[in-house]
Amino acid sequence: MRIVKTIEAFNEMRKTLQGSVGFVPTMGALHEGHLSLIRRAREENDQVIVSIFVNPTQFLEGEDLDAYPRREEADIRICEFAKVDMLFMPMMGQMYVPDELRIGAPAIRGYILEGAKRPGHFDGMLQIVMKLLNLTHPHRAYFGKKDAQQLALIMQMVRDYFMSVEIVPCEIVRDGQGLALSSRNTYLSPEEKERALCLSRSLKRATEMVMAERLDAAEICLEVLGVLQEADSIEYVAIVNRAFEPLETVLLGDTIILVVAWVGKTRLIDNVWI
Ligand code: PAJ
Repeated sequence: MRIVKTIEAFNEMRKTLQGSVGFVPTMGALHEGHLSLIRRAREENDQVIVSIFVNPTQFLEGEDLDAYPRREEADIRICEFAKVDMLFMPMMGQMYVPDELRIGAPAIRGYILEGAKRPGHFDGMLQIVMKLLNLTHPHRAYFGKKDAQQLALIMQMVRDYFMSVEIVPCEIVRDGQGLALSSRNTYLSPEEKERALCLSRSLKRATEMVMAERLDAAEICLEVLGVLQEADSIEYVAIVNRAFEPLETVLLGDTIILVVAWVGKTRLIDNVWI
């Protein structure tokens, strides 16, 4: 595995990669969720590139940029183990210049739900993903359904900007008890981790309702809110279609149910695709 830290070295190495390239962008503190994306990229491509960059422009003022877990050595070992060909770990100064040209999230879809709670987050996220995709120019890039709105916006960016990369959505990986894996789970105490299970439990309850043909979105939201009471606060419960438009009735094959709640000082997100 080649570890590259500068754009110059990256471009040199990229030229030597033969065949199809799969790319997995991350912010590090790698876990089984990231690993599932890397494994899929490994299966479907001749070469695999992973990037690790804690992107400051997608963190808002007062968010956990400084506290965000950084585990460089363990991450390198995980990538080696997963047979990654190139690991890109740029320094801050490599990725940004002063007075940059900015691309922005779409006015509606980029500023509802996560975009409303974290205004500007998606602008920063799209900015770095655009840079990373242009730099790596992969055939396929892999993203988790865990960050459903992020995934939808990246797919829109690729469409709207005529970018020639296939975006591959990947299933959410959970621990044995159902908690969706996240680098931020390391903030949870054992007691908080227990209560954090109410997110996946609430989505399980929603899925059961759908299976029992109870498709009314308001009714499902109410039930989900009930299960989420174990969290310290609930930010939102939403039922949308794949284009992130709100639904009054669940449409089988075109629905995402999203929950966001705080447990202790940790903000947790989860969702289920129906
Ligand atoms: P990060 O949170 O490190 O996540 C990297 C990728 O792993 C994302 O596509 C995310 O959806 C996926 N992922 C995280 N947890 C997962 C889980 N439990 N199951 C499946 N996939 C999971 O998302 C980002 O970084 C950044 O916004 C990034 C796209 C790298 C841009 O900075």
